[in-house]
This record gives sequence, C-alpha cells and structure tokens, in this order.
Amino acid sequence: MMDPMRGNNGPRYKHKPGNEAPYDTIQVDKLTPIIGAEIAGIDLGRPLSNHQMEEVHRALAENLVVFFRDQHLSPEQHIAFGRNFGELHIHPAAPSYQNHPELMVIHADKNSPRANGEGWHSDVSCDPTPPMGSILYIKTCPPKGGDTLFASMYAAYEALSDRMKAYLHGMTAMHDGEENYRGTYKYAGVEDKATYPRAEHPVIRTHPVTGQKALYVNRGFTRRLLGVPRDESYHILNYLYTHAENPLFQCRFRWQPNSVAFWDNRCVQHRAMWDYWPHTRSGFRVTVAGDRPY
Ligand code: SIN
Repeated sequence: MMDPMRGNNGPRYKHKPGNEAPYDTIQVDKLTPIIGAEIAGIDLGRPLSNHQMEEVHRALAENLVVFFRDQHLSPEQHIAFGRNFGELHIHPAAPSYQNHPELMVIHADKNSPRANGEGWHSDVSCDPTPPMGSILYIKTCPPKGGDTLFASMYAAYEALSDRMKAYLHGMTAMHDGEENYRGTYKYAGVEDKATYPRAEHPVIRTHPVTGQKALYVNRGFTRRLLGVPRDESYHILNYLYTHAENPLFQCRFRWQPNSVAFWDNRCVQHRAMWDYWPHTRSGFRVTVAGDRPY
C-alpha cells in the first residue's frame, strides 16, 4: 500500500501550527505557516526591554528566521543587538570590518569573484560549537535580486519516512571547513590559516530551546556520514540534501536597504542568490555563538 505521506511528488509535510497567542510589544507577520516572519514595531538600535527581548526570542523560536525593515544600525549597535543573544562568534576565515572582528563583511560587486552563501548551508557547522544564530544587516541592495532563501530543518526532519528517521537516529557526520575556506578570501586580502575547524555532529540534532528535532547535514560543510561505507554515505547525504531543498520547507526574503534577517542556524539552512551581477549588494553579519549539538 502506498504510504499516505508520500505522493508522486515526494514527501509531504503537514505543519502543526504552534502558539498563536498575540504579542504585546511587536507585530509579527508570518511569511509562510512553516518558516519566516517579518517583525515590526521595534528599533534594534536601541536597548531592548526584557519583554521585547522575550518576544523577539519567542518569534525566532516560532518562525526560525525573523526579518526587520528600516533599521539604521552603526557597527556598534549591530554588535550590541547581537550580544543580547549571547557571546559573538568570530568567523574562522571571512573578512571583518575595521577593528571589529565580530562584524563579518558581506559584499559582492562587479569585481567580486564570488558572493557569500551561494550554496545551502548552516553557518560554520564545521565548528565544534557551531553558531546559534546569524544577524545579517544589508545596507545596499541591487535594483532586483539578491534574495536569501531559508529552509526549515524541523520540517525536513519531520517529512522523512519513519524508516529513514530510524536509520539516521544516533548517526553522526563529519563537517569540515577546509574545502570551503582555504584560499576563498584571498581576493579580499585574508591570508589562510594553518587549519580550519572540523567537527563530528549528530545527523539529527535536538534544538536546545524548542526540544524539536532537526536535520543537521548540509552541502556546504558536511563531508561524510560516519560508521557507514563511503558510497553509502555519499548517496544518503545526497538524498538528504535533495530532500532538505524541497520548496515546501522554504521562505524567500526580498531585501530592501536597511533590512535585517536573524536566523537560527540550529534548525535553518539558507542560501543567498547571486543573480544581481554586476550590481552591488553589501552589509554586515554578526554571528551569535552556540552550543555543541546533541
Ligand atoms: C550568509 O551569511 O551565508 C550570506 C547570506 C546572504 O548574503 O544573504
């Protein structure tokens, strides 16, 4: 008999709506029922009250990635907003801004050989304690394009068959930054390090705040499943990547100048579209440190 969760078009995902209680200090407008929400009524450049902080935390937990428009942040204000959520992570390879190692430069123009984040990934998942979240502030946008796509890894996990979930349960994978980072930022004047982070993480991780399970392998950094033959690892990972890229699990954010996106790397993968050459897209990212996945 055909599995009712599997039609001709692959996996189906039945999203269970969560908490629908209203917010007091912010307005939250969902992009899709599954992932993404725009937040209004808050100035990220000012100190936030405890209640505002609780509500931003809640909106992030419920929507996985949240967006803010018309924000005017100095580097110091951007860093201060990030610090509300924990220690900041210093990128192991990318260029940073002036004397702010925690402020990563995100920039592409007509002379760039590459743009950041062009493949699906979870930021720096090769780190033994990968970042909890990333806060990207785009100040200059191309006339069209330059969107970022985000995908829910909760949905990707839930939509796996029970047999695949059972197979992956307890399995770990090696994530490695070497291939991604060595030589990548030479064009921006950054010298290579002797080594780049490499770490073994569970393939299915449990979110420390929501307790939900998320698929935690990505094309950017995951190199192989451990404990199975290489060819099996190759094919299973490819299946999982294709599965995770189902548009059902995604939202797509259209940037305007001075927009901010804050995503949770523990349950989200993202991919930036470099479809705007020769135009310029530019901004900064602060990245909030995270815990060892379990
Ligand atoms: C990244 O942080 O991966 C870049 C995302 C973007 O530029 O939209």
